[in-house]
Amino acid sequence: MLITERVPTGIVGLDPLLEGGFPQGRSILITGEPGTGKSIFALQFLAEGLNRNEKGIFVTADESPMDILEQAASIGWDFERHIETKDLSILNAGTYLSSLPSAGKERHVDVQKAVSDLANFVKQLGAKRLVLDPAGPFVLLRDSAVRMQDQVRLLIKLMRASMPTTNLLTSYAVPRTGERSMHGMEEYLVAGAIVLEMVWKNGELARSLIVEKMRCTDVKPTQLEFEIVKGQGIVLHPPLR
Ligand SMILES: Nc1ncnc2c1ncn2[C@@H]1O[C@H](COP(=O)(O)OP(=O)(O)O)[C@@H](O)[C@H]1O
Ligand SMILES: [Mg+2]
Repeated sequence: MLITERVPTGIVGLDPLLEGGFPQGRSILITGEPGTGKSIFALQFLAEGLNRNEKGIFVTADESPMDILEQAASIGWDFERHIETKDLSILNAGTYLSSLPSAGKERHVDVQKAVSDLANFVKQLGAKRLVLDPAGPFVLLRDSAVRMQDQVRLLIKLMRASMPTTNLLTSYAVPRTGERSMHGMEEYLVAGAIVLEMVWKNGELARSLIVEKMRCTDVKPTQLEFEIVKGQGIVLHPPLR
């Protein structure tokens, strides 16, 4: 029988709810407004991999690799050490995207070329975990939303076909009640979708996480509260009974 291999996220409280972690070799989307913890989630996913001797790649589009290292260090993850040992690479998305012939002012991205360059790098490094934070720039098109959706589908299909990694893609969300699938990172195309949100609780803002979707996983639709803690990163509160 086919058994879904699991990739632990390293997030305290989350892995037991996911039957051990993300389905291996698939793409998981983390959506949320700025400041909700997407990048920290992504860093924690890589930190857990490094603890397990699984190499990782972090592709950043919004922040410099230095910013990423600084953010990780502020939580307590010494990523510099792993960069020196070549267990971790932090890449600028621009490296992959701006060198493309049609890139530039039109912001047209050749997904095929970007993924194949990235796949070569994944192979070279022997990476098991890959983060695109955010994934939007890989599918930016000036054309209509329909084309964009095709582009996202292509990105996810190509990643699955050409990389053995488990992939974490982040994407911005607009506030609740609005459309969540901003930038066309449609939830139904990925193997898993997690939404990070700020919610009002007893007159105060609290951080919350919903697992909207996880392939092959019996996950209950609950909103879970979490905190970002120095030394640990994201820590989920136990679900309320
Ligand atoms: N070292 C830290 N200790 C505790 N909380 C932190 C630390 N670093 C960042 N945070 C919290 O995480 C938030 C940013 O999370 P981040 O993952 O960058 O969000 P996003 O990527 O969704 O914009 C910050 O606004 C801050 O509240
Ligand atoms: Mg971020």
